[in-house]
Amino acid sequence: MIFLKLKLLFTFILVNDVVSYAQPLADESKVLSKLLPPVPSFAEIANKHGFKCEEYNVTTSDGYILHLFRIPGEVKRPVFLMHGVLDTADAFILREEDSLALTLARKGYDVWAGNNRGNRYSRHHVTLNPNKDTRFWNYTFHEMGTRDLPAMIDLVLDRTGQSQLSAVAHSEGTTIFYVLGATKPEYNSKIKVLASLAPIAHLQHTRGILPFLIQTAPQLNIILEDLNYQEVVGFNSNIRALIRWICEVPGTGYSLCYEGLISQLIGFDTFELGPKIFTTIIEHYPAGTSKKNLLHYAQVGRRKSFAQYDYGIGNIRQYGSRTPPEYDLSKVTFDIGLYLGANDFVSTIKDVDIIKKQLPNVVDYQILAYPLWNHFDHLYAKDLPKYLLRHVLKLLRNY
Ligand SMILES: *[C@@H]1O[C@H](CO)[C@@H](O)[C@H](O)[C@H]1NC(C)=O
Ligand SMILES: *[C@@H]1O[C@H](CO)[C@@H](O)[C@H](O)[C@H]1NC(C)=O
Repeated sequence: MIFLKLKLLFTFILVNDVVSYAQPLADESKVLSKLLPPVPSFAEIANKHGFKCEEYNVTTSDGYILHLFRIPGEVKRPVFLMHGVLDTADAFILREEDSLALTLARKGYDVWAGNNRGNRYSRHHVTLNPNKDTRFWNYTFHEMGTRDLPAMIDLVLDRTGQSQLSAVAHSEGTTIFYVLGATKPEYNSKIKVLASLAPIAHLQHTRGILPFLIQTAPQLNIILEDLNYQEVVGFNSNIRALIRWICEVPGTGYSLCYEGLISQLIGFDTFELGPKIFTTIIEHYPAGTSKKNLLHYAQVGRRKSFAQYDYGIGNIRQYGSRTPPEYDLSKVTFDIGLYLGANDFVSTIKDVDIIKKQLPNVVDYQILAYPLWNHFDHLYAKDLPKYLLRHVLKLLRNY
């Protein structure tokens, strides 16, 4: 076990070292990714299945240009989908006919899927260049919750002429909804209900190699900061091309990358998450975030509190207090359904219990019936409709 951890750490540092020294920040070189087949977009997948798909840009109050997809339906029933960390809107459509996005579209919902700053679709800014300006990557889920989410929600409400929307979020997508509700009270009334898939606010009970990564994050950060490594596995980065190259090899790719590595992060389940869908996932994921964002999550785990970014000695200047302010979940007043898997190493039953006690309006709570349900099964499980979607559809129908 320890051997695996060390090997992993070593590989991680080594690969980043090589990639970063060769080209600090210059992630759009596409040198290696050019050699791989192109990856279809959310819109292309929707089109393939006979659905129209519209695309929108929205600019945040701090200048990030975010990209949204929409499969138009009844404007009175907008549902907004928000992806997890290092992910994109694609997460909600990769399971094709059984995916959440296409299931909702078939039922007549007006389906919108957002993309947070820094990912494959939202790697743009009005003045900053993500390839050159370190400042582009100076953000965490705090900015996603206080800047990205309000901009995207307002766009959806504006275009549909509604005053409220329903939402489904996965992982980090849930975090940023909690950040929004806790910091911008006026947004609570714009959200009818949120289906929280694999909810994340606390990370005190993570499993697999996550506790180790959380504990060693500060040391890793020192090394990566020294290399000016800011963007973590960008969509067109060389490191991602290497990941695809290795992990898409039939058979071995699945054993090595999924069974050997990724299942240690998300929970081991080879029945619902088999080799075929894994290859598709790896084409689309990971798709980039900031190192600071991952560090913020590690702080949440280490400090055992769902709080703003810890600047250490800089907290006084930043917040006027020695410790960063906590997000007050009791202020998140929209209705919430919590859906979790017993075998999810990231969003654990114990950590969700903490959230559940603090949120005032939990209207549904389900530990999904498949015992090996892991962090990714919420998006990609073979039996997604049977185990999860029926709960989500039932929740949305009530609003
Ligand atoms: C969105 O913004 C990007 C980057 O600025 C641009 O390339 C793209 O054409 C825009 N798309 C739409 C639909 O406005
Ligand atoms: C990063 O953002 C924080 C918070 O907005 C700010 O205090 C800090 O000065 C920024 N750092 C850089 C290098 O721009």
